Amino acid sequence: MIHFESESHREILRSAMQFGMKQVRKLVEKHPDFYPMYTNEGRWKHEGAAWTHWCDGFLPGMMWVFRKNCAAGSADEKFWLEQAIRYTKPLEPRKLDREVHDLGFIFLSTYLRWFRLTKDQAVNEVIIEAGKTLALRFKEKGAYLRSFTGDNSLFIDIMMNVGIIFYAARETGDRKLRDIALRHCLTTRRVLVRGDGSTAHEGLFDVETGEFLKQTTHQGSRGDSCWSRGLAWALYGFGTSYEYSRDPRFLDTAESCADYYIAHANADGVPPWDFNASPENRKLLDTSAASIAASGLLRLSRLLHDPVKGHFYWCTGLRILQALCEKHLADKDRKWEGILKGGVYHIHKGLGIDESVMWGEFFFIEALDHALGANG
Ligand code: GLY
Repeated sequence: MIHFESESHREILRSAMQFGMKQVRKLVEKHPDFYPMYTNEGRWKHEGAAWTHWCDGFLPGMMWVFRKNCAAGSADEKFWLEQAIRYTKPLEPRKLDREVHDLGFIFLSTYLRWFRLTKDQAVNEVIIEAGKTLALRFKEKGAYLRSFTGDNSLFIDIMMNVGIIFYAARETGDRKLRDIALRHCLTTRRVLVRGDGSTAHEGLFDVETGEFLKQTTHQGSRGDSCWSRGLAWALYGFGTSYEYSRDPRFLDTAESCADYYIAHANADGVPPWDFNASPENRKLLDTSAASIAASGLLRLSRLLHDPVKGHFYWCTGLRILQALCEKHLADKDRKWEGILKGGVYHIHKGLGIDESVMWGEFFFIEALDHALGANG
């Protein structure tokens, strides 16, 4: 068990945050107003496909975090605030985007941070509108928010987005919105989270009857496997849903997913891209899943009623961060443009394999901020 109170450990995290700022500053200077998704041999700009349009909040999301980590009144703080607003504002039209299920990713990482800083109600309205738009994906038969692939499809990833519906419900007092969010979480818990705490990526339904048909996957190894990033989304997302709803079932599910993650990841807390991939395939890690899990565990540690388990989650989150800093930071490779190596986007489509991925960068920086903010 590591002790966060060790100054050398804190220094490792602090210098990773500084390295993150350096890399993002270079990206902004080299490719202004470009919102990358994953690197190709370490380069952000390339012709690779996107599959779906879900990542634009992560780059400005990091900028909001960087601003917070600069000395008040410093030139750096001013720089990151200007960049954060510059990259956040163009996202506003996405509040009406009905093509994707990712509006939580886009707006909770950006507009929510902006609103918390300024309390500007016009900024808050954008988040509320986005929450209402996401709720339009709700399928009454089956009781779930449909994924971008079709009416019959539910993704585990949506657990990271449903928080924006809870948020909009709270801000407006709209009980119908809250009901949609609650029912989506309950369905996900029932059909995608297994008894051992592992998760399936996708669930398919009969749209006529609402009957749940089967578990399947797009990015994982198999329908009955546990794709590690999907598990990390569940761990984090059920924790967020508990924070908004205080429904103990969601905390229970978040804990089951966290316990599965901890028991099955490698000893340093970094998982294979899929926990059930074949032995030779398991050597491929996904550092983005580790970043999400670290951030989720740090948050979850404060929600648990059992302080001993909370401490265990906190220390595990820090241990994962330390492993990412020591083994996967791109700081030794001068040509690499990302922060963290070893992410995986879509293995079957051959996109972003063993590369930097924007969501991995964001959740890594968020987790560092959480760890440093608490004790720094
Ligand atoms: N589509 C979300 C993810 O790749 O995790």
